[in-house]
Amino acid sequence: MSMTMTQIERTLRELRLSGIIATLETRIVQAQSSGQPFIETFSMLLQDEMDRRRSRLLDRRYKKSGLDERATLLDFDWRFNPKLPRAACFDLHTLKFISDGANALIIGKPGTGKSHVAKAVAYQATLQGYHVRYVETDTAFGKYSLASTTEQAQIMRSLLEPDLLVLDDLFLSRRIADTAAELLQAVVHQRYKLRRSIIVTSNRVVQDWGKYLGDNTMSGTILDRLMHRCSLLEFEGKSYRLKEAAARLARSSDDD
Ligand SMILES: Nc1ncnc2c1ncn2[C@@H]1O[C@H](COP(=O)(O)OP(=O)(O)OP(=O)(O)O)[C@@H](O)[C@H]1O
Ligand SMILES: [Mg+2]
Repeated sequence: MSMTMTQIERTLRELRLSGIIATLETRIVQAQSSGQPFIETFSMLLQDEMDRRRSRLLDRRYKKSGLDERATLLDFDWRFNPKLPRAACFDLHTLKFISDGANALIIGKPGTGKSHVAKAVAYQATLQGYHVRYVETDTAFGKYSLASTTEQAQIMRSLLEPDLLVLDDLFLSRRIADTAAELLQAVVHQRYKLRRSIIVTSNRVVQDWGKYLGDNTMSGTILDRLMHRCSLLEFEGKSYRLKEAAARLARSSDDD
């Protein structure tokens, strides 16, 4: 005996085939309107299920990464700052460095697109199935300093487990707390041993890191490990934020 539509949907739900539930009616109407063979309709429904699973998986991976935007290199204007290391950015975007367990340091002037490029690479990594963790360094490290021992262990795990860790805007607020400096050291040391990649962005030149860490030896051991297998990308140029602000100003004076 054949099932009613309601029974079919209930069964699909039990089988957790939500992709098929979502498109079933459309596919039935499509099949009736074109008289297409059953096998064709069936394969379309299977594809619908696969597509939905993939997009849900990507969504979950994106949410887990902590990224706040789906940045890409497609909308990046390379003419604005012609001295940016374009080839090195695209090399990073191939994600080969992750399988090599290598790092990237993106250092340079404010507003030149360091965070944008790091986020684009991180987002691409989520699309390719990597476990990614993106943090605004000061915020994450600040939280760590105030956390309980159990929470600290959790934060530490979340920084060690991913295939790729992005520490964005390191030393934004110049001096970091001693606990935060120790966390940075532990994370860099552990990930180095595990051969897991880190991307660091910062507008502070590495020569000054000792000053911001309040400890030159510590800065030496951190840099030593970070730079061992590492691409160094220097971002020289003008701030894109200022360009956007100037454009906004021009628009508002046009409106007056
Ligand atoms: N060449 C560019 N083309 C398009 N958008 C850009 C470009 N450069 C920067 N932007 C945009 O400008 C804003 C600032 O860039 P971003 O945050 O990446 O700068 P940053 O180098 O990380 O600066 P900071 O050192 O202050 O952290 C972002 O919205 C980014 O998307
Ligand atoms: Mg930045």
